[in-house]
Amino acid sequence: MTASNSSTTGEDAFSSAAIEALLAPAVRRLPPPTSLSPLPYDLNAGVPDRATLPWQALAAAAQRAIEENPGVALTYGGTQGYEPLRAWIAERQAAETGVDVTSAHVTLTAGSAQGIDNVAATFLSPGDVVLCGAPTYPGAIRTFRARGATIIDVPQDDDGMVMSALERVLETRRMTGQQAKLIYCTANYDNPTGHTLPVERREALVRIAQAHGVLLLEDDAYTGIDLDGPPPRSLFSIAKGRGIMRVGTFSKTIATGLRVAWIVAQPEIVRQLVFARFDNGASPFLHRMVLEYLRGGTYDSHVAMLCDLYRERRDASAAALVEFAEPYVSFKRPAGGFYHWLKLAPGLDAQAVFEAGKRHGVAVTPGTGYFANGGGEDHIRLVFSALPPDQLRPAIAAFAEGLAEVAAAAKR
Ligand SMILES: Cc1ncc(COP(=O)(O)O)c(C=O)c1O
Repeated sequence: MTASNSSTTGEDAFSSAAIEALLAPAVRRLPPPTSLSPLPYDLNAGVPDRATLPWQALAAAAQRAIEENPGVALTYGGTQGYEPLRAWIAERQAAETGVDVTSAHVTLTAGSAQGIDNVAATFLSPGDVVLCGAPTYPGAIRTFRARGATIIDVPQDDDGMVMSALERVLETRRMTGQQAKLIYCTANYDNPTGHTLPVERREALVRIAQAHGVLLLEDDAYTGIDLDGPPPRSLFSIAKGRGIMRVGTFSKTIATGLRVAWIVAQPEIVRQLVFARFDNGASPFLHRMVLEYLRGGTYDSHVAMLCDLYRERRDASAAALVEFAEPYVSFKRPAGGFYHWLKLAPGLDAQAVFEAGKRHGVAVTPGTGYFANGGGEDHIRLVFSALPPDQLRPAIAAFAEGLAEVAAAAKR
């Protein structure tokens, strides 16, 4: 029964239950997003360090952006976004990928999360198939599901997406006559696994996607947070920019609150992405402010400083995990990004570990939230980016006490 055909009238017609009944079915079935935790130690929310946000430089950039031309900065700026900022991004992408990227290859979005939704809005109809690593970023799962798409899992091992499995899935889809539309992949510092796809797998992924005529969506949310040097060549570079959309963001390298990000793709694709935007574009003021900040010349040194900071946190948290939690978890050190992906020892359940962590004042994330079609009961994601080393150590010690409790209960 929906609110509109219920006999209830007045305020009750708009109770939360009634509102829920009105939701689009695809949205009603979505899992909730992760959020900041009120616990003393939050190792759950994948957020950058707050103390190093470059707010003074951004404030000065905002002032310059608005004073230079207030009428233009504060008026609709078009759906593709501010051309000089697109040109700045294009220049960097061209240098990095060796592909002739121009501002026509770039469209600006409100965060890469909206970039993923823009891709989904443009290419996915209900019932279309998207292939994702299992596990994968829950925001992508929610976005594809909200658009009515079906997600098919491609298993991940310690090096990321398994190419033989991908090939098998695509071959099976081809034989049924219902080929997948899109492959979604975070090749650098995956969320939640932290894995970086080796170059041979990248080459295989591009070859397989192109052979099957399936679009690639490369999610670069953590690219730049390179803790062990630059990552291998991007999928976009290997694909020479054909049949691929590469989503990037200033969220992790400047500030998540900016909501300034981009999609790079061949112009034929960009035109369609821009056409399928229904929000009158992102903020021209923010685009000008970000460009002013970038032109200020401190961006690269800021990112280098962040890499030093996060490297120290990764290493401190890895050492604490070895010291306090090793009998209960194993993990591979990520080469970048924000996350440890902990494999629980046999007999330990992620939900029980999550509850025990809470009792000890530590928020972590059960692995189950990262699987579109089930799994993850034997994994925990632990964020190392948000807390300094002197808090990471006691947080992980407290978390390990929770692990020990769960292990003791499992033995009984
Ligand atoms: C893999 C991945 N993609 C995209 C995003 C979205 O980031 P934003 O919308 O802030 O650019 C995140 C955020 O955590 C992420 O982990």
